[in-house]
Amino acid sequence: EEEVKAYKDRIGALLKERNAALVAHYYCDEHVQALAEETGGCVADSLEMARFGKNHPAETLLVAGVKFMGETAKILSPEKTVYMPTLDATCSLDLGCPIKEFSEFCDQHPDRTVVVYANTSAAVKARADWVVTSSIALQVAEHLAEKGEKVIWAPDKHLGSYVQRMSGADMILWDGECIVHDEFKGKALADLKKVYPDAAILVHPESPQAVVELADVVGSTSQLIKAATELPNKQCIVATDRGIFYKMQQAAPDKELIAAPTAGEGATCRSCANCPWMAMNSLERIENVLRNGGEEIFVDEDIRQKAMKPLQRMLDFNA
Ligand code: 13P
Ligand code: SF4
Repeated sequence: EEEVKAYKDRIGALLKERNAALVAHYYCDEHVQALAEETGGCVADSLEMARFGKNHPAETLLVAGVKFMGETAKILSPEKTVYMPTLDATCSLDLGCPIKEFSEFCDQHPDRTVVVYANTSAAVKARADWVVTSSIALQVAEHLAEKGEKVIWAPDKHLGSYVQRMSGADMILWDGECIVHDEFKGKALADLKKVYPDAAILVHPESPQAVVELADVVGSTSQLIKAATELPNKQCIVATDRGIFYKMQQAAPDKELIAAPTAGEGATCRSCANCPWMAMNSLERIENVLRNGGEEIFVDEDIRQKAMKPLQRMLDFNA
């Protein structure tokens, strides 16, 4: 704990010196989340991170999360210097949707509106008509369904199939998944609900259909935290990365929060509800990047301008 405090003090001073703001996602280590708040930065879901970065007056943003979040910050604020604790922090959804294959896929369906999740590279965003995050994915799909637009949805197949079921939109889905949420198990969750029959089930929409179908609330990380504070249930079973428990418990101190099962009985989990890339955002790396630089995000200017359009559409949609 003393070591953590020493890190925080040094990082706090460096952030001031560099006129930098620390923007962190809820899946980061709790010390990183606390530090972001204590230093006037923010802890947020992906949409709020994008908004915060764009609106903040700091010259430099340090984005603790995964690469697409840093790229989004840079696309929206090209005049800012954007660092990440490490550029190696990627995402299985981003990795599973390479621009060449994705572009060919889009070319095969020229009549369809291209909607991509924020968890994609800048180049994939540049190929899209819309960018969405989990907090507005369903509303955007409903909006497009109302207009009678046919849609390509990429890369998360679970989010896509949820949105398709709920909106009735005509969608074809890219076959991608989040390695963390894909591990949640419907059968094991149903068994756990029998142990806690009064618990509310909160589910991130990157989870498989069998899990989403058991949910009382489906939403982005911020929406799930809000639900935990507002629901009358004394217990909540939570199907998302366990990094969320830090803020959720703070926001709802009187609730008992229970992790949803990631594997059936006897089986082992791969990621155990803890994103390996989010976990790379250590205090040590944050200090290092503020002291020594490196790990800076650059986005090709042509790609940036193209990616800006669907991102701006996302920000305006929820304005
Ligand atoms: P949200 O915080 O927007 O719900 O995103 C979840 C996620 O998977 C980020 O990696
Ligand atoms: Fe990607 Fe899943 Fe990790 Fe989020 S939790 S960064 S979606 S792999």
